[in-house]
Amino acid sequence: MSEQLWTAVDDYLEAHFMPADPALEHVLQTTLDAGLPPHLAVSSLQGKFLQMLAQIHGAKKILEIGTLAGYSTIWLARALPQDGRLISLEAVPTNVTLARKNIEFAGLSHLVEIHAGKALDIFPEIEQSGIAPFDFIFIDADKSGYKDYVDWALKLSRPGTVIILDNVIRGGGIVNFDNNTRTMTGLREYFEHLAQQKKLTSTTLQTVGCKGHDGFTLAVVL
Ligand code: SAH
Ligand code: DHB
Ligand code: MG
Repeated sequence: MSEQLWTAVDDYLEAHFMPADPALEHVLQTTLDAGLPPHLAVSSLQGKFLQMLAQIHGAKKILEIGTLAGYSTIWLARALPQDGRLISLEAVPTNVTLARKNIEFAGLSHLVEIHAGKALDIFPEIEQSGIAPFDFIFIDADKSGYKDYVDWALKLSRPGTVIILDNVIRGGGIVNFDNNTRTMTGLREYFEHLAQQKKLTSTTLQTVGCKGHDGFTLAVVL
């Protein structure tokens, strides 16, 4: 019942504020065609929110962890100036291939690099490449890795870097202590860890909408 209402409200808002967008629609269609779960991508309203945060911040270098088919990647890349860069990390090779095609279709290949592999294996290469510090970091991969991703985000950042971590509430599952899936235990470890970070100031907001009840953390490096 409530989920239906949240979706109806998102539909209403999308109808008013989200003009037809062939590049983004192409991502969702190719996601379905590839048999990938489309609900993993952020909603259009959330994508716009991420884009606006990056714009407000004047981000020139963005790091994303978890590309899937490139939906959030496109929203974020469109926030960049022409000399900006977005690096997105994706573990599944077929997702990488699909996302690269979708980024090409969107005309954003000059701004976006998708790196294939598990994030924890790629971070050292990124550190050595000298591209850091990033201005904006969007963390949206396996939730069991969020604790480690916070540490790497700190290593690859500067004072003022904005960090967003998606899907940290999972329908309230984080406080259902009978639920001990890797996602939930990983998210609880993440929150324990976040609370101890002296170099981050953060807040976490719950959200409802077409993606259900979830939420995100907003953190800024001090
Ligand atoms: N950000 C995307 C959705 C990402 S879904 C969007 O909103 O459009 C999560 C993605 O993280 C999946 O594609 C999954 O393959 C990837 N992933 C999972 N574990 C990973 C890891 N260890 N390193 C990199 N990517 C990972
Ligand atoms: C899941 C992952 C996501 O990144 C998301 O936005 C929604 C759901 C998931 O693993 O179920
Ligand atoms: Mg997500």
